[in-house]
Amino acid sequence: MKTAKFRQFLTQPEVLQVTRNENQALVDRRSNQPASCAVFDQPYSELRIDEGYVFEIDPEAHRLLPRIIANKVQAVCAAETPAPRLQASWERPRTIGIVFSGGPAPGGHNVIAGIFDAARRANPENRVIGFLMGPDGIIENQTVRLTDEMVDAYRNLGGFGLIKTGRTKIDSKDKLSRSRATCLALGLDALVVIGGDDSNTNAAFLAQELAPDGIQVIGVPKTIDGDVQVRDAHGRLLCAMSFGFHSAARAFSQDISNLGSDGSSDVKYWHICKVMGRVASHLALEVALQTHANIALIGEEIADYVDGARVKDAQAAGNTDFTAYGMTLRHLSRHICDGIVRRAAAGKNYGLMVIPEGILEFINEIGVFITKLNTIIAEYNATHDRDFHRGFPRLDDKLEFLRRLARRDAKSRFGRIWNMRDDDLFNDLPDFFQKGLLTERDSHGNFQFSQVNTEQVLIDLVKDYLDILKERGLYKVGIPKTYYRAILADGGLNPDYYGPVLFQDYNVDMLLVKKEIISLKTLRNALVQAKVLTRDAAIPAAVEKIYKKSVPSFKTQFHFYGYDGRGSDPTKFDCTYTYNLGLTAFSLIANGASGQMAAIRNLEQTFEHWEPIGIPIAPLMHLEERKGKLALVLERSLVELNSPAFKVVQAYREKWLAADPGPDHYRKPGAIHYAGSSEEDRPITLVLNALGADFTD
Ligand code: FBP
Repeated sequence: MKTAKFRQFLTQPEVLQVTRNENQALVDRRSNQPASCAVFDQPYSELRIDEGYVFEIDPEAHRLLPRIIANKVQAVCAAETPAPRLQASWERPRTIGIVFSGGPAPGGHNVIAGIFDAARRANPENRVIGFLMGPDGIIENQTVRLTDEMVDAYRNLGGFGLIKTGRTKIDSKDKLSRSRATCLALGLDALVVIGGDDSNTNAAFLAQELAPDGIQVIGVPKTIDGDVQVRDAHGRLLCAMSFGFHSAARAFSQDISNLGSDGSSDVKYWHICKVMGRVASHLALEVALQTHANIALIGEEIADYVDGARVKDAQAAGNTDFTAYGMTLRHLSRHICDGIVRRAAAGKNYGLMVIPEGILEFINEIGVFITKLNTIIAEYNATHDRDFHRGFPRLDDKLEFLRRLARRDAKSRFGRIWNMRDDDLFNDLPDFFQKGLLTERDSHGNFQFSQVNTEQVLIDLVKDYLDILKERGLYKVGIPKTYYRAILADGGLNPDYYGPVLFQDYNVDMLLVKKEIISLKTLRNALVQAKVLTRDAAIPAAVEKIYKKSVPSFKTQFHFYGYDGRGSDPTKFDCTYTYNLGLTAFSLIANGASGQMAAIRNLEQTFEHWEPIGIPIAPLMHLEERKGKLALVLERSLVELNSPAFKVVQAYREKWLAADPGPDHYRKPGAIHYAGSSEEDRPITLVLNALGADFTD
């Protein structure tokens, strides 16, 4: 095309239309108005204390958070005839600050939209301020005043792009006092912290700090990891799930199910899908339910594993075998191999595997190695001029040092920390993983999990063991009998003549080559011994072809699902959930609450049953080790092995492995919607946990 003509082409309306940043889907999504809970139909709402919930309060929470520790669960109720005091409080002009904290989660913009709409409805003079780049925006007083145009541009959209986010923790006296100075300088009436467990912990400490200034602080449960869930001491559910979880799980699942379609078409790869969730495996569990992947690992289950045979042996000998509790990496890799080998025997040398990002935390020996190596490195550094990493720059030097420690007297200090068993187990690990475990600790002496490639560690062990199984003739690809017969007939051979010589059982539909036939040489031997081939004759081409088809090669493709899901546009569930969280946060503010987390009760049920509430944060906190010290933090929820959702995955595990010649059972969750109704209105985990509540013991 000539230059002038091309310029003309670029200005054609149709060309301009299809090259715009904003497409129609985006415009439609932004203009969608999520439904509000019935209580918000009224112009005013009030808070009613619900005494029905009981918390076991940590004495440290009493000591550190006296101003908010007596907070109760508050139900947000419609005020049909509002008292003049409520009306006055509701309508008085306010400045509300909002901050995102931690990783992005789909729906965050709708929390802002909910607060913004409610605040502007209550009083058009209300100011809503966004703190930029997360908590740093509070510490450094970096803000933006939100306008209609700004909020409208992000309604129902994923990410935290409107005001950005950050991971700074307001965890020192200095940061707390700088934050307080910012809030005072801005004349803030209330601060809304949208974040996960650590950020809501921060919210509680800020509420305590800012109470004398009359500045309220409200938390909002965010994180795709799904580990902010709240129950009282009797297990009564207050908040079933943090926002963002559903959208991220659906985004991962859609992609993973596409891999299922591709994998079962070209039948040559195992797709290894690592899914985010730094510690808890909630996302992996939901992905398993959404996709019916062939193998889905759940960290919490691995930690809970007990080797019954070992326990029995030890009991019989009057001992306790502590190594029988929890799974080792090697054991886990064997378990994975079992599934791969069984599928291969059914003719399926391919599959879908889901590995939670945080799995290493649940593997006993890794935790033990990390603690032992932390101690050894710290001790070495304290007693030598050159630190451990400069003293032993190469991996081999480090391993040699550990070997020397292990050979020392078992009663010596180091002998007790690092023994021959540790050394043997450690030497079984692949080099890059050994390197990962021996990398420099952070400034607090903590191990940096993020530096280890979890799925690679496991799959390398799997590959090694599959090679061994192949050598032993235990890993083979099943051959459909019809195919075998057709190939031999094509080659002018009688299939029934060769069949009993080649296969373990010739009377079945899926044939497995005999265990002892593991090479062309052993194939020839078998044929010669059975007298179907003379010693110097060539192996018939059709027989050789069948043999080669039976030899598996374990080919993998690695995928990481994390950041894509965090940036996904929210599902209808998350759009609605978060908008109502925003409305709830405003209602809590307008009613004078502080140190509360905005939440929706009955989230696990259909929308008509949703109830906005305020949950007291301080009573949910307990002492946990952080950076080597005990700290008061909001408790994180792990996958409950007794939960119906987990039990369902367990019950379907064999079916979804599909180690039989029939079809796979992959499920396609489909695209993410922001409107309409479908069975995808809620996370499957929540649906099952609600439906199966009566079946758990
Ligand atoms: P939040 O708990 O802050 O929501 O973040 C969770 C998460 O997405 C994890 O799943 C993941 O391990 C981590 O963030 C990644 O962190 P980073 O953004 O620092 O890479």
